[in-house]
Amino acid sequence: MQSISVELGPRSYEIIIGESLYSRFCDALADHYGDRTCIIVTNTTLARLYPQQLAYWEKRLDAVRVTLPDGERYKTIETWRTVIDALATHSIDRDGIVIAFGGGVIGDIAGFAAAAYARGINYVQAPTTLLSMVDSAVGGKTGVNHEKGKNLVGAFYQPGFVWIDTTMLDTLAQREYVAGYGEVFKYAFIGGEEMATFIADNGTKILQRERGALQEAIARSLRIKAMIVGQDETERTGMRCMLNFGHTFAHALERYCRYETMLHGEAVLWGIACAAYCAKSLRMIEQSHYETFMRLFHHFPDIVVPVINEPHRLYDYMFTDKKTQHGTLRFVLPTAPGHARLVAGVDKEAILDSITFFSRGTIAAARDVFADAV
Ligand code: NAD
Ligand code: GLY
Repeated sequence: MQSISVELGPRSYEIIIGESLYSRFCDALADHYGDRTCIIVTNTTLARLYPQQLAYWEKRLDAVRVTLPDGERYKTIETWRTVIDALATHSIDRDGIVIAFGGGVIGDIAGFAAAAYARGINYVQAPTTLLSMVDSAVGGKTGVNHEKGKNLVGAFYQPGFVWIDTTMLDTLAQREYVAGYGEVFKYAFIGGEEMATFIADNGTKILQRERGALQEAIARSLRIKAMIVGQDETERTGMRCMLNFGHTFAHALERYCRYETMLHGEAVLWGIACAAYCAKSLRMIEQSHYETFMRLFHHFPDIVVPVINEPHRLYDYMFTDKKTQHGTLRFVLPTAPGHARLVAGVDKEAILDSITFFSRGTIAAARDVFADAV
C-alpha cells in the first residue's frame, strides 16, 4: 500500500493505492471521520459486478446506497438531483459522508452533490476505472454536463481522501483501460524527463496490465498531478492547464463526434498526437524530439478516429475550450520529452494542418509518422 499527499493546507488529503483493499476501507473511513452516516453513490454496472463488496460496505457502515444509471449521458443536473434528493430523504446532516464508488462520471456527480448539499459535506473518492484513478478522483473538479457544454456546471471541491484499489481494474473492459491510459500517457509529455523515460520503457507492460508497472504508473501519475494541483488548485496560474495537454484537440473531436463514438481518453491520445505535430510545425520542438514522441505511440493498439471531413468545424469547436482567453485559443504544446508550455495565439493553419494530418481514420497515423521518420 502506498500513500501520496495532496498538499492544500487545510484541504490537504491522502491518496491510498493498493490491491484488494476493499475490506480495509471501512476502517480507513472510521479512522478518518469517526462514526458518521454514509451514503454510497455508484452505478448499475458496479452494482452488478461488485454486489458482495457493496453489501459488505453497506452493512459495516450502515450506509444508504444510491445506484445511478450508467453512462456519460446521465451525467446531468437531473441525475445530480437524484443524489441530492437521496441525501435529503435520508436526512443526511452536515456530518454525513458521500462515498463515490465508480468511474469519473460517478466521481464527478457525487463530488458535486457533496459540494452543494447543505453547503458542502465530506466525500471520499473510491475510483474504479484507470482514468478516474489517475485523474478525475484527484484534484477536486466536480460537476455535471449541460446541453450547452461538458462539465459546465460544477465546483472545485476536494475529497477527504482517495481510495484506489487497483484490483477493481480486473473487470474493466480493455477499451476503457486503453482510454484511461491516455491520461497516464499525457504525463510523459508534461511530467518531466523521468516520467517520459518510464512510459517509453514500460508502456507495453502497462497496456498489458502488468501489476508492478501499472501500480507504478498510477503512483507516478498521481505524484505529478498532486504537485500541480498543490500549486494551482483552481486553475488560475496556468500551471494546472498543463493537465489539459492534448485536451483542446480532444474536446473538439469529442464534440465533432457528438460524444458518441470516442471515449474521452481515446480523444486525448489523438489530441496528444496533434499537439506534438503542431509543436513541430511551429518549430517548438526539434525533429529528434518529435520522433521520440511518435515512438511513444508505438506500443498502442490501434484506435479508430472517425474520418474528419470538416476540419474547420472541429477548429471552431475549440473556442469553447476553458483555456480560451478573450477569444484567443491557448494550447499546451510539448517542447522536449516531459516538458510542455502553454501557448496563446497559435497560428490557425498549424492547427488545421495537425487536424488534417491525423484525420486519416485511425491513431495509427501517429505510428506511420514514426515509420516515416526513421
Ligand atoms: P465512466 O465513469 O463512464 O466509466 C467508464 C465505464 O466503465 C462505465 O460504463 C462504468 O460503469 C464502467 N466501469 C467503471 N468501473 C468499472 C470496473 N471496475 N469494472 C468494469 N466496468 C467499470 O468513465 P471514466 O472514463 O471513468 O470517466 C470519464 C468521466 O470523467 C467524464 O465524464 C469526464 O468528464 C470525467 N473526468 C473528470 C475529470 C476531473 O478532473 N474531475 C478528469 C477527467 C475526466
Ligand atoms: N483533468 C484535469 C484537471 O484535473 O485539471
